[in-house]
Amino acid sequence: MKSTNVTWHDTGITKNDRERQNDHKGVVIWLTGLSGCGKSTIASKLQENLFQLGSQVYILDGDNIRHGLNGDLGFSPEDREENIRRIGEVAHLFADAGTIAITSFISPYRKDRDRARSLMKEGEFIEVFVKAPLSVCEVRDPKGLYKKARDGVIKEFTGISAPYEEPENPEIILETDKLSVEESVAAITNYLKKYSA
Ligand code: ADX
Repeated sequence: MKSTNVTWHDTGITKNDRERQNDHKGVVIWLTGLSGCGKSTIASKLQENLFQLGSQVYILDGDNIRHGLNGDLGFSPEDREENIRRIGEVAHLFADAGTIAITSFISPYRKDRDRARSLMKEGEFIEVFVKAPLSVCEVRDPKGLYKKARDGVIKEFTGISAPYEEPENPEIILETDKLSVEESVAAITNYLKKYSA
């Protein structure tokens, strides 16, 4: 921490107040999985469903956030750690604002995901392992990146030349090679039913 001489102060309206107004909890839905496993597709459809139900919901997506806030970060282990650290903080702020924050990042390291979880209260961090075999993601290859990684054009590519540490105790596992997008989204919305404020 470089910031010293700073004091936390409350701003009057609490998370609880916002949750009551929104009629749902402010939570983080943390999608993790390989590139091409279906995170972004599930995030978009989930957001659409929740929005239509009147929820306050917002997606933080790796490819998008790396254009702006995290445009200074690459894909070394240190940069991925910083990427996830910042997103954990931002997602925490969204949840504190009473929003359902959906994050869609590979987030390959368990300790980085656990740090994001540690910012939240028990039950307010919903880790969703979007699980598809590497071989399936590689065949899908929606952005042509696996081919480039195999050809050595992209270095440190998750699953090929960089690690992915599977979640040990995620709240939800979605096997996207077996489930439709709708089934995956339904699994999350059902889980969220216990979170209406
Ligand atoms: S993370 O590992 O730091 O969580 P993040 O989700 O932000 O990654 O970004 C992953 C996206 O960046 C992938 O979907 C892919 O489009 C792109 N990408 C570019 N280079 C790499 C790489 N070396 N490894 C993984 N993804 C990469």
